[in-house]
Amino acid sequence: MIPDPVDNLGRLQGYHSPQVEVEVRLNTNESPLGPPPEWVRELREEVAAIAFHRYPDRRAAALRRDLALLHGVAPEQVFVANGSNEVIQTLLLTYGGPGRSCAVFEPTYAMHGQIGRLTSTRVAVGERSADFLLDLTEVKRVLADALPEITFVCSPNNPTGRAEPREAVEEVLGLAPGLVVVDEAYAEFSSWNALDLLVADPQLPLVVTRTYSKTWSMAGCRLGYMVAPPVVVSEVEKRALPYHLDSLKQLAGRLALCHQGEMESRVAAVVAQRQRMVAGLARLGVEAWPSDANFVLFRPVGRSGDQVWQGLVDRSVLVRNCGSWPRLADCLRVTVGTAEENERFLGALAEVLT
Ligand SMILES: Cc1ncc(COP(=O)(O)O)c(C=O)c1O
Repeated sequence: MIPDPVDNLGRLQGYHSPQVEVEVRLNTNESPLGPPPEWVRELREEVAAIAFHRYPDRRAAALRRDLALLHGVAPEQVFVANGSNEVIQTLLLTYGGPGRSCAVFEPTYAMHGQIGRLTSTRVAVGERSADFLLDLTEVKRVLADALPEITFVCSPNNPTGRAEPREAVEEVLGLAPGLVVVDEAYAEFSSWNALDLLVADPQLPLVVTRTYSKTWSMAGCRLGYMVAPPVVVSEVEKRALPYHLDSLKQLAGRLALCHQGEMESRVAAVVAQRQRMVAGLARLGVEAWPSDANFVLFRPVGRSGDQVWQGLVDRSVLVRNCGSWPRLADCLRVTVGTAEENERFLGALAEVLT
């Protein structure tokens, strides 16, 4: 008999963004550009040297060393996995589970709570303030009540866009009884990041997660990592599957780091486009929130978010419908794309709104 699956999937069904065939895809916060052509050429050349009949380096030592060099930390502080979602899952397998809890502050990245529930970790839910930053009184209340092993802080926060100020992260660190996990999937688009705190003090109960999916133009590769105190890395490693990171991916990740300048100029281009996007949304009279990431959350005032989303799809433009997120009724999130994609989006939105 095939047993029933565990019944704690919560919002997982609703979480995934529909993969609709459209001309302009601005729904999953990917980079609008593919990786640099030199990276593709180097990867092609070096792939030939991979011993595909052998298991990969289990500890991904070279990639960890290169990431450690990039951030000015020790290799023992770095753990790499198949996307930062897998990092988060492995953290919850390590510190969550039955009888344990994690804290999230809504509206925020749904996978923190989702993976919490999937690992039978109790999820304590707090509210963000009206501007969608952390409300420290609320943080204090939730942490004192739940005593979570993990407190998630998403900065810049998906889907609302703002990065937490340094003082707020420091205050959460002072309040949290366990680990503070700062999800920095979009940190490169922001002017401040929490990784600096770990560089200054590697023993802080702080974990910073990063991804290759956004700035490094490598969402198709599934590569992410965390920087953490060495004791956290060694515990998390015990819960990862053996050889979880294949040789090809380890190589791809290392080669990408040789193109940091290219990555930084892409980030600058996206940030410039973000400003144009915000200005364009303002011209259309929609409510838009400030963003430190590569996306903008907006609400077409007085209109149904579902209908606007469908109107955009009808014009072959796909954005994220955030209407099912707590407190985000009728809100949509648009990824910043190329200048042409953004123009297509703004033009389509203008049509839908008239
Ligand atoms: C805040 C946040 N964290 C993590 C991820 C997952 O990233 P990855 O592709 O590395 O699994 C995303 C993806 O959109 C995200 O928005």
